[in-house]
Amino acid sequence: MNQTERQPTAAARLGPIRDAVIAIVLIALGVAIVVLYQIEAANTEPVSISQNTGGAASQLVRGASEQADTEATVPDTPLDKWLAGPHADTYVVAEDGTNSTCNRCHDPINYVPSMADMPASCTVCKFEVKPPPPLIEQANAHSVDCKVCHRVDRSGTVLADVMWLEVAAIEQYADVSSVNQLCQYCHTGAGVVGHADIQLGGAHADLTCIDCHDAHMMTASCGASGCHETLAEAPGHDADHANVHCVACHDAGGMDVGPDESRGGQWVTFAGGDAEEPFPHLSHMLAREVDCARCHVEALPETDG
Ligand code: HEC
Ligand code: HEC
Ligand code: HEC
Ligand code: HEC
Ligand code: HEC
Ligand code: HEC
Repeated sequence: MNQTERQPTAAARLGPIRDAVIAIVLIALGVAIVVLYQIEAANTEPVSISQNTGGAASQLVRGASEQADTEATVPDTPLDKWLAGPHADTYVVAEDGTNSTCNRCHDPINYVPSMADMPASCTVCKFEVKPPPPLIEQANAHSVDCKVCHRVDRSGTVLADVMWLEVAAIEQYADVSSVNQLCQYCHTGAGVVGHADIQLGGAHADLTCIDCHDAHMMTASCGASGCHETLAEAPGHDADHANVHCVACHDAGGMDVGPDESRGGQWVTFAGGDAEEPFPHLSHMLAREVDCARCHVEALPETDG
């Protein structure tokens, strides 16, 4: 009664509010359509790798030298360690004078996957990929820049978390499930002569690459790792074998062994095998058991060991 009389009044008060809400929704829809259209339009622009945003390391180097701290010391920042390590200089050119495929690992910032090789997460991207020039000059190369493994924020700060720069041209990153996965994007599957996969297994199967390797200088050592400073007395742990790398004896991957000239004749493991000219490659598939006959029957026949 009283209530039914009051209802029209309430509805009348709600009327303008409802109209305003509808109007706002319509305007928002309109804006959204325009924005979507613009994103679409932007995505159909060919992606040009010459427009890539460059590396983070070179900018950091410039910044660091401005604060001119000239004392030469043992590198202790990620930047200094990276500069001293192998990832700061990975530029290569293949025999045919190109490097566009090599750059997947040797210069990822300049690498553009073919449409067929685009990651699945990117099939929704509506852009056209301009094929990269067959050769990136050394002056424009970025090696394995910080940005390959870390996001960089707007101020140029390299963020500590590790990520994988999946499609450099659009700065698309992918999460990595482990540091090992990140390293293995490049340290397995090259399919190029002179390359062999790092196969981490055996005694060290549960370790990560950076349990042993410094994450930026990449150095690693069995003897100075805090794990094997003192070794049990065993036939191989003696002066006779001072020039034999641990992995040459402890490899469980069945690799060839022999002296490596580039290491002053130290005995190491070799990859390549029958498929190509053998080349030194340190085994990561290790076991406690050692077979003396591996070297002393076949490779050193004069020894009756
Ligand atoms: C899947 C990643 C990947 C691809 C693709 C790749 N490389 Fe490499 N390359 C590596 C890694 C990792 C190393 C270091 C290997 C090691 O020491 O175990 C390396 C090492 C090299 C070295 C020795 C480096 C030196 O300074 O001694 C050369 C030369 C080389 N690559 C050339 C090439 C060329 C040429 C191509 C293209 C035809 C190519 N690579 C493609 C990952 C790759
Ligand atoms: C090949 C991949 C790779 C590259 C390239 C790389 N980093 Fe790292 N970075 C790592 C890994 C792995 C860690 C250790 C992450 C962890 O402990 O979980 C790390 C850690 C860090 C951290 C945090 C821990 C620390 O040591 O201070 C910083 C900061 C960092 N990196 C900066 C840089 C900078 C700056 C560059 C370039 C000069 C760079 N990184 C290049 C892989 C990389
Ligand atoms: C984007 C590709 C890429 C990623 C990711 C990467 N590397 Fe490398 N790495 C290379 C290339 C290319 C070289 C060869 C450098 C050279 O000698 O020219 C190399 C060299 C090395 C070397 C020295 C090899 C030698 O023969 O002395 C070590 C050790 C190494 N990487 C370990 C790692 C570890 C550990 C990680 C993960 C934290 C990692 N790399 C991640 C591409 C990569
Ligand atoms: C000439 C071959 C040879 C070389 C080189 C060698 N080892 Fe060994 N190592 C052996 C033999 C043989 C044993 C005993 C195996 C067994 O117990 O069945 C052994 C045992 C071990 C063990 C298990 C016993 C222990 O001390 O806990 C470890 C760990 C080990 N070696 C690490 C290393 C490291 C690290 C290096 C390099 C600094 C190295 N080995 C170099 C032959 C070698
Ligand atoms: C148990 C410790 C350990 C772990 C784990 C480990 N490494 Fe190593 N790695 C070494 C040592 C030690 C060397 C040899 C250093 C030397 O004597 O020059 C080495 C050498 C290398 C080399 C140079 C190979 C060559 O033929 O010269 C590469 C590349 C490399 N490691 C990559 C990796 C990657 C990638 C991972 C993770 C998947 C990894 N390592 C995990 C200890 C380790
Ligand atoms: C990875 C290869 C390798 C393995 C495995 C190996 N050795 Fe050797 N061994 C060598 C080399 C290299 C020398 C030095 C030879 C030289 O200087 O002419 C050597 C030297 C020796 C010597 C000194 C006498 C000589 O011929 O110079 C003895 C004894 C010996 N090894 C015994 C063993 C025993 C026992 C085992 C198994 C526990 C073993 N070795 C495993 C490579 C190996």
